[in-house]
Amino acid sequence: METIHLRIQDVCKSFGNLRVLNHVSLDVPQGSFTTFLGPSGCGKTTLLRTIAGFYTPDSGEIYLGNRFMNTVPSHLRNAIMVFQDYALFPHMTIEENITYGLRIRKMPKDQIQARLERTVGYLGIGNLLDRMPGQISGGQQQRVALARALIMEPELLLLDEPLSNLDAKLRINIRAELRQLQQRLKITTIYVTHDQAEALALSDRIAVMNEGKIVHYGTPQELYYHPADPFVASFIGKVNLIRGRVTQHTLEGTWVDVQNITLLVKNHFTYLQPQAEVILCVRPETVRIVRASGDREENAIPGYVTNFIFEGATIRYWVNALDQEWVVDVFDPAEVLPPDTKVFLRLKPERIHLLPGGSQK
Ligand SMILES: Nc1ncnc2c1ncn2[C@@H]1O[C@H](COP(=O)(O)OP(=O)(O)OP(=O)(O)O)[C@@H](O)[C@H]1O
Ligand SMILES: [Mg+2]
Repeated sequence: METIHLRIQDVCKSFGNLRVLNHVSLDVPQGSFTTFLGPSGCGKTTLLRTIAGFYTPDSGEIYLGNRFMNTVPSHLRNAIMVFQDYALFPHMTIEENITYGLRIRKMPKDQIQARLERTVGYLGIGNLLDRMPGQISGGQQQRVALARALIMEPELLLLDEPLSNLDAKLRINIRAELRQLQQRLKITTIYVTHDQAEALALSDRIAVMNEGKIVHYGTPQELYYHPADPFVASFIGKVNLIRGRVTQHTLEGTWVDVQNITLLVKNHFTYLQPQAEVILCVRPETVRIVRASGDREENAIPGYVTNFIFEGATIRYWVNALDQEWVVDVFDPAEVLPPDTKVFLRLKPERIHLLPGGSQK
């Protein structure tokens, strides 16, 4: 059983009339890497700052271990936050920057030195200690900011979009290192991003947020294959969302009508009433695209290619079928199907995820 390290229970927070956190509850396991993912303004930074103790919740509770945290001031929380702009002190050397927090705490010099060596060793920045922040690159500054946090040996590491100032390549390298470091040190880490690819690559758990609420909390795989709603489905990865209506259940699975084409969905465990409106979530890489042929098989939908992009290992096709545009990814493409080619899309019955349709548009 996982030990819960951080518990957020029914937390609300408003700024004036604006409700920014709306009944947020979340259990973060010990030693895990958890990501808050969501669009700009959804409340990610506010939630992180509330955990760090910079904001007090209007209602609800925060526990770290078994300790009730609401009334504990931020400097006594042992939760270190690294801000997006990671402001290093410009007039201090890198070493002085990194050791600042421990010097403030009046830790003995030899202990500071031991921690310094260990921390810069992890991050590979031992050769930068005598320089000033203005004399190192953006990626190096990023590592220094992380070192400054890690040297405190916090119980909880809170990272607010810490890689957002880096170029794409450096970002990917540093995030891989960050993940390795986190796993080695087993520090419970919360990471904020609006980049879904980053969230998938890094996280043990992802909390998808929208308008001050956590709309889905789960592993990257759960979110990708079984998203809680269309927002989560389209926020994480690419997805085709198709409206349909349940016709019947048989031993084979659930049958769904989409514009008079009947599709079979397997392994869907939530019962949906016949006649219920549903949304089918179909990932582009789960669809097969085949040349038009006479033998229509189960879950074959006729359509025609409208566009494609050749990406080397894959081709991404846009296909018009059932009066809408589908995105289909083909790996290791043997041939290219030009626009206007008549095709069939084949949907694997076990790779369609159903969501309640209701009145949502
Ligand atoms: N101190 C504050 N006073 C008033 N409103 C605030 C304050 N901080 C944040 N807000 C508002 O609360 C909402 C959530 O802000 P927050 O910074 O938590 O969003 P975010 O998810 O971190 O967004 P981003 O991805 O852009 O950083 C926004 O509408 C923001 O304008
Ligand atoms: Mg933010």
